[in-house]
Amino acid sequence: MSEPKALYVHIPFCSSICTYCDFYKLVAKRERKEKYVEHLVKEGELKKESFSALETIYIGGGTPTALPLNLLDYLLTNLKRLIDLGNIEEYSIEANPNDITPELALVLKEGGVNRISLGVQSFDKEKLKILGRKHSEDDVRKALMILRDLGFKNINVDLIYGLQDDSFPKVKKDLKKAIAMGATHISAYSLILEEKTILKKLHAEGKFNRLDDDLEAELYKKISAYLKRRGFLHYEISNFARKNFQSKHNLTYWNNMNYMGIGAGASYYLGNTRYTNITNIDKYCESIASGRPAYKEVTVLSSEDRMQEEMILGLRKTEGISLTEFKAKYGIDCFQAFPVIRNLINLQLLEAKHDRLYIPEEKLYLSNEVLVNFI
Ligand SMILES: C[S@@+](CC[C@H](N)C(=O)[O-])C[C@H]1O[C@@H](n2cnc3c(N)ncnc32)[C@H](O)[C@@H]1O
Ligand code: SF4
Repeated sequence: MSEPKALYVHIPFCSSICTYCDFYKLVAKRERKEKYVEHLVKEGELKKESFSALETIYIGGGTPTALPLNLLDYLLTNLKRLIDLGNIEEYSIEANPNDITPELALVLKEGGVNRISLGVQSFDKEKLKILGRKHSEDDVRKALMILRDLGFKNINVDLIYGLQDDSFPKVKKDLKKAIAMGATHISAYSLILEEKTILKKLHAEGKFNRLDDDLEAELYKKISAYLKRRGFLHYEISNFARKNFQSKHNLTYWNNMNYMGIGAGASYYLGNTRYTNITNIDKYCESIASGRPAYKEVTVLSSEDRMQEEMILGLRKTEGISLTEFKAKYGIDCFQAFPVIRNLINLQLLEAKHDRLYIPEEKLYLSNEVLVNFI
């Protein structure tokens, strides 16, 4: 089994809860955060043997910058001790714009972080209010200035679109501002109304609505065309990057490669096996304290499962999958493993050219309909 090239580190805390978000996260007191980070580092110690081939690290959440500064510093210092950062090409952290101060940015810089993913969602006051975000356009501008002043050059901005009042002129304003402020990568997510979120409840009460599907598909196409005109590569369904700024870490997932994970609720994928850690923070800490692995779920994937995942993840990328690599990996031709590919090609929902199988860019808005055929 080859050593994983990517490490995911999970921080399940947020300073406040956004109306659309169903990620596992909590607003916690300082002592709880301290206990958690202590055990997170301990899990890192237990797994350090598998860190030798790492090329990317991603600290996500929740909101990692919701940690008190000294705790974030403690975490980064310990990761630096456990991992040879000389081999790390991309080291990302998710951050909330109004957590970014010169002091925090310095801690990130000294910790070796070289990519920041900012949860902006929008610059529009009304939209930010509906989404339950606490920052303003000015906070984002200040955050990006601080980061740029310290030499951070690789910056992702997360945006959300697809609220009932969204139109292209409105979303274009967000894209334009993100670009003007120096984003080298943009993740543009269409709003999902998740169960047990405030927006879902408001929707059920008739007080909130999403954009109609057809209008949203139009919006998606316009977002993609606009970002391409502005020099961004559309490389995954929701992800756009300036040349050489694609997320190497996320490409590990989409290329269906092994990765390690630490933290409550973190998943990892080693050999043919997927693991998911205990989500409950106290139970997670108990398990780590006793030196036991903290996973609650282990799924050994059959060759069929792995082929399915290869398609579902790989077809998210605009370059799709390599037919020869698929055959080398699974010992079977992709067309033989999935006869449905022929139908999808006839329907022009898939294209096979120069050894690659992919969803044509103008059909990416139908990606869910395509991917569902591989489940
Ligand atoms: C787990 S969040 C982490 C980022 C960080 N906590 C923040 O929000 O500042 C990752 C991203 O997922 C996206 N996201 C979360 N819930 C979503 C939903 N229901 N629909 C669309 N995008 C969503 C948001 O763009 C968010 O920035
Ligand atoms: S979007 Fe980010 S900040 Fe908001 S609740 Fe989800 S994880 Fe927390």
